[in-house]
Amino acid sequence: MGTPHIASKSPYAIDVESGKDYYWCSCGQSKAQPFCDGSHQGTDFAPQKFTAEENATLYFCGCKQSANGAFCDGAHQKL
Ligand code: FES
Ligand code: FES
Repeated sequence: MGTPHIASKSPYAIDVESGKDYYWCSCGQSKAQPFCDGSHQGTDFAPQKFTAEENATLYFCGCKQSANGAFCDGAHQKL
């Protein structure tokens, strides 16, 4: 597994809709952050699927260093 690209040193606040699927970019190369646009192809990275259970504002990790997968855990503060 390579090192992910740091797309942003802060999270993305996204309004998610209940029942909708989202594909978080784990590689950091997507131009459609924080979500996958297929740019990971040819690498060891794959997007991480998330299904929203309710309408909410969630903070998706932009630095790709979070230990909490798709979601910011504050790790970006150490970059
Ligand atoms: Fe990053 Fe798909 S573009 S995981
Ligand atoms: Fe990655 Fe906060 S943006 S841990």
